[in-house]
Amino acid sequence: FSMKSVGETMGIGRNFQEALQKACQSLEIKRNGLGADGKELTKQDQILHSLEFPSWNRLFHIYDAFKLGIPFKTIQKLTMIDKWFLEQIEELVVLEKEISKYNIDTLPVELMSAAKSKGYADRQIAHLLKCLESEVFKKRHEMDIKRVYKLVDTCSAEFEAKTPYYYSTFQHENESVVSDKKKVIILGSGPNRIGQGIEFDYSCVHGVLAAKECGYETIMINCNPETVSTDFDTADKLYFEPVFWEHIYDIILHENPVGVIVQLGGQTALKLAEKLQRYGIKIIGTSYEALDLAEDRGSFSKLLQENDIPYPPFTVVEDADNALEKAKDIGFPMLVRPSYVLGGQGMKIVINEKELEEHVVDVLRDIPGNKVLLDHFLDGAIEAEADAICDGEDVHIIGIMQHIEPAGIHSGDSYAVLPPYNLGDLVMQLIETYTRKIALALKTKGLINIQFAIKNDTVYIIEANPRASRTVPFICKAYQEPYVNYATKVMLGEKKVKDFDFKPVKKGYAIKEPIFSFNKFPNVNKELGPEMKSTGESIYFIDDLMDDYFLKIYSERNLYLSR
Ligand SMILES: Nc1ncnc2c1ncn2[C@@H]1O[C@H](COP(=O)(O)OP(=O)(O)O)[C@@H](O)[C@H]1O
Ligand SMILES: [Mg+2]
Repeated sequence: FSMKSVGETMGIGRNFQEALQKACQSLEIKRNGLGADGKELTKQDQILHSLEFPSWNRLFHIYDAFKLGIPFKTIQKLTMIDKWFLEQIEELVVLEKEISKYNIDTLPVELMSAAKSKGYADRQIAHLLKCLESEVFKKRHEMDIKRVYKLVDTCSAEFEAKTPYYYSTFQHENESVVSDKKKVIILGSGPNRIGQGIEFDYSCVHGVLAAKECGYETIMINCNPETVSTDFDTADKLYFEPVFWEHIYDIILHENPVGVIVQLGGQTALKLAEKLQRYGIKIIGTSYEALDLAEDRGSFSKLLQENDIPYPPFTVVEDADNALEKAKDIGFPMLVRPSYVLGGQGMKIVINEKELEEHVVDVLRDIPGNKVLLDHFLDGAIEAEADAICDGEDVHIIGIMQHIEPAGIHSGDSYAVLPPYNLGDLVMQLIETYTRKIALALKTKGLINIQFAIKNDTVYIIEANPRASRTVPFICKAYQEPYVNYATKVMLGEKKVKDFDFKPVKKGYAIKEPIFSFNKFPNVNKELGPEMKSTGESIYFIDDLMDDYFLKIYSERNLYLSR
């Protein structure tokens, strides 16, 4: 009976099913909603167990139970969920079975309409009809089944609600009147979770306010009820919708903004850049090519090479055989991870061939068809990171933080100190030089975060995140400067870096302290590693390094070094 979740989403619809589908589309667990994605459980005993002993994904298993034909009475008895809710899910399963009898050319308009009004995404319908998402999109437009936007009535119809707070549904009357002002869409970061928490909401909110100052009408898209970005008076207009391509695209078509800001909403927003590019929608700030270059290990390491910047040897492999073969070039210890993940998911340090083989097999079992990234692990290195604002010509480094734990503990889980407490002049200058070079080479317009591992006075690049990072809000607060506001104005092309009069309040040090929730998860491995586990953080100011608290946590770092 103790709470375990770390975040939440909200879906708003005209009916329960539509709202439920939207909430499921917002989860970012690589599902397209509830059902219709081919990812259901089909083993009866597993499903029954899950119904009786609820876990985070029981909702999905209730759906699977109906699909498998487990009797309503059994599902009700095991879950003790009110009949009404179960009937709603059962209805979805029935509808899907009906739709599956058709293909894209034969699907009757009534069924398409029913699916859309019950919240099914085009991708889900495409799965049922075995066709492309874009074909479903086209077909529903031909059938004149289009999204409209409704005002959330915050005054229960007692008097006219003036709050510009919208959700989509499939009806005829649209209530979201489009203005003729120049407008910009800011993509939010979705639900809070480990690895992508509230810090991205901070950046979104400050971005919205900065764009307003520049005279833009601001449009926020997000589905997280806990955040300030989803307050009805933060942006000029709020679409309380999943940060999910179909919803975003429809809003873009409706609003016709000058562009979309993807740099502020963490990986969630950044990941959507590819689709925006493909559909010819302007990305505000750093270009898609640069975002892609920074994310792609192969091309990014080429950029580093061209700029004489060191990085740990790495390679990409497709199977365990391949991994063992290439291991000789990389050298143990090695960091193994799936090639497209967030928050260090599935990352592991391996020290010999046996461990390497086991982990590669594990990774590929969980994400078949993925590639595996092998990095040489810099043992006992110091980790540091820098955040900067760049306009394509000038770079302003807003802060450099030195971690207390050695590299190998995820940056989100380390204690970190602003500014660095014992990096020499040479290392500091290398960090600054590399940050400038990388920001310029990527033609960054806006924010960039770069992570470093320092060993024997060599500064290696671990990664570059071409977006607002977890540490940006921390630096803003410690130095009392509105860096996200500045960066947004740079992204929009309204200001250059040299237009700002930077006046950070620098006294003493600010320590970032990670917060863990392990007491809620008694059976979870509490050992820290490259996969992030903390659920929050706090800031602690000290005047100087002789501070008892600092000395205490600093001495505890030896614990990690001795392992
Ligand atoms: N080559 C390396 N040597 C030592 N530690 C590393 C190396 N690469 C990554 N790490 C550690 O793993 C953590 C997560 O890796 P990172 O590439 O930053 O992934 P993420 O995208 O999850 O932030 C880093 O914060 C760092 O502590
Ligand atoms: Mg990182």
